[in-house]
Amino acid sequence: MNILSPSILAADFKNLGQEIRSVDDAGAQYVHIDVMDGVFVPSISFGMPVIESIRSATGRVFDVHLMIVDPVRYVDEFVRLGADIITFHLEAADDPGKVIDRIHEGGKKAGITIKPATPVSALIPFLGEVEMVLIMTVEPGFGGQKIIPECVEKVRQLRALLTERGLDTDIEVDGGITKENIKEVLSAGANVIVAGSAVFKGNTYENTAQLLQYLIDK
Ligand code: DX5
Ligand code: ZN
Repeated sequence: MNILSPSILAADFKNLGQEIRSVDDAGAQYVHIDVMDGVFVPSISFGMPVIESIRSATGRVFDVHLMIVDPVRYVDEFVRLGADIITFHLEAADDPGKVIDRIHEGGKKAGITIKPATPVSALIPFLGEVEMVLIMTVEPGFGGQKIIPECVEKVRQLRALLTERGLDTDIEVDGGITKENIKEVLSAGANVIVAGSAVFKGNTYENTAQLLQYLIDK
């Protein structure tokens, strides 16, 4: 199934609850929550109190993208705060298998992600273990960047590797997705689409509804 996951990093934070209700009302299935620690990536976004406070704004799936070093330290906390999917960076974890197990012990779905320079082959040991793989289509750290075309090719490679193994794992893409390139990433094999600027710049409800039109399974 194709899914839209609006990234609230691009939302109007003074109206965050309303922004989340708009994407929910328009039909977005997930809410993408970018947690940055200023170490794994240069920027700092938001953390626990924000997530806890927006949990009551929507029943939609909380798709938490951890851009933090040593992510295993915080898994239990994000589980407690109401994350449904927890995605961590392969590059940030000493023992990725341990992070995946910790997420599963908390009863949540595990996602693993790679930065643009990390090859898809690095994911091979974990493909049978996670519910989702996120292919970053920009350098993590900031919203509003342009998609890196080579990363779309990585989506194609990953879908082929999964299919060879008889897996239909979700592939998420994140960074620079717009109405202009969404069809291309879908046809490369992605099925969970993160969009920040494309959702929250302008009319949030209208943008969400329009993007969802591209995701309707043919
Ligand atoms: C970047 C974040 C993204 C970002 C996407 O590090 O992981 O989720 O918010 O924003 P856009 O869609 O504007 O590129
Ligand atoms: Zn993200």
